[in-house]
Amino acid sequence: MKGLTPRVPGHVATTRHLCAAYPLVSEAGLGHEGVLIGRDVLGGSFVYDPFALYRAGVVTNPNMVIFGQIGRGKSSFVKSYLWRQAVFGRHAWVVDPKGEYGPLAEAWGVSPVALRPGGAIRLNPLDTESDGVAEPGNDVEVGSGDGARRRRVILTSSLAVACLGRDLLPRERAAVDMAVSGATARAAATRLSAPTLPLVVDALFEPDTTAARDLRTTAVQLMEDGRDVALELRRLVHGDLCGMFDGPTTPGLRLDGPLVVLDLSAVYHSSALGVLMACATAWLQSSVRAQHRNRIIVVVDEAWAILSNLGVARWLQSSWKLSRALGVANMAVLHRLSDLRSVGTEGSEQVTLAEGLLADSETRVVYAQSPGEVARTGELLGLTETEAELVTQLRRGMALWKIGRRSFLVEHRLASGEQWMIDTDQAMSDGFVPSVPAGKSYSPPSP
Ligand SMILES: Nc1ncnc2c1ncn2[C@@H]1O[C@H](COP(=O)(O)OP(=O)(O)OP(=O)(O)O)[C@@H](O)[C@H]1O
Ligand SMILES: [Mg+2]
Repeated sequence: MKGLTPRVPGHVATTRHLCAAYPLVSEAGLGHEGVLIGRDVLGGSFVYDPFALYRAGVVTNPNMVIFGQIGRGKSSFVKSYLWRQAVFGRHAWVVDPKGEYGPLAEAWGVSPVALRPGGAIRLNPLDTESDGVAEPGNDVEVGSGDGARRRRVILTSSLAVACLGRDLLPRERAAVDMAVSGATARAAATRLSAPTLPLVVDALFEPDTTAARDLRTTAVQLMEDGRDVALELRRLVHGDLCGMFDGPTTPGLRLDGPLVVLDLSAVYHSSALGVLMACATAWLQSSVRAQHRNRIIVVVDEAWAILSNLGVARWLQSSWKLSRALGVANMAVLHRLSDLRSVGTEGSEQVTLAEGLLADSETRVVYAQSPGEVARTGELLGLTETEAELVTQLRRGMALWKIGRRSFLVEHRLASGEQWMIDTDQAMSDGFVPSVPAGKSYSPPSP
């Protein structure tokens, strides 16, 4: 019998029986509603829309967290995703710490809002509407303004925690609370629609006697209680970070366009990037509230800069919780989960926050991770053993999507017309002259 190849007889079965023969190999998919992301490696195209999935009951919130090592294609995915969502009339607001969303903005026909210390544009993070949106765990009456006050206090406290690098003492928290009320009264007296950070700093340095009496203390003591907070917040008002978040929002900023990009690249290397991103995100989110627009996608790229800061992470989580009430799908881009985990010990608030943020982001897109990272955080991300091994081997553009309880291995595909808006490799290319294709006047693809 030497030389003869043994033949295995073919097996014929119906597709119904085949899925029993090869269990768990293929997935039914997420349906056809949404934008095309790319190829499901196990077969077919992969389409995604958080609002459609929410309606279908596949997810209980529309938020997404994206993890991945440097240069794996996280931001490219976000840019092409936003561009494709434009077909469905979705608007997008982006906090852009590296200043890389300019081409996307240009494609959309808008200019990024470039913030730089001492620059021409100011955003007031305390701009917020009494909009009647119920806060989690707090019934806010329509138009009462309590919700707005509460948000301002939470934001100011978070900024103070972030600037001080520690939790606030009870007396500091009370001083912030009173200062926000004092600043609001001062704003009303000068016909400003909202308090500003300089007014909060003034109110901390010069608390009024009524506030002191409410706290059964003296104005001098209340000033002492809030002094450290005032000195730190002052940095945003008079120090090296002044001129961006220290006054009323510059009039005439176009917020009703399909895309708003806040370019923070001028402060990317500042140690206070997290604080500045928090201010920018606060402003974005209050503007979303003010306009009562539904179906907005809010992106915080390089979100590790925010999350590694306890105070700001706490505040961000409270914003995440509001996504359903506002019709907003939040997206945060991180390198790795341990960016956050490493700042806290097991069982600490940081880790609880990480888990909370993940719980409030039912879509987790995981690009390549190092084996050590997967060992540390695989369980938190809900990765199975096979998935954990897989994510260490993913090539650029490939990601494991965990949506609710389901998993998909997806290759993100870029269209040729999208290349110029996603390229972040210019600095790595020999002789490359950065440019936008001449004469290209892009407009969002029509449905
Ligand atoms: N799906 C893809 N297919 C092919 N090339 C891609 C894909 N996604 C990204 N790239 C290329 O990889 C480069 C880096 O991508 P990108 O800037 O999105 O990475 P990143 O993960 O956001 O990196 P960082 O962590 O540094 O922000 C881009 O310039 C782009 O040309
Ligand atoms: Mg990026």
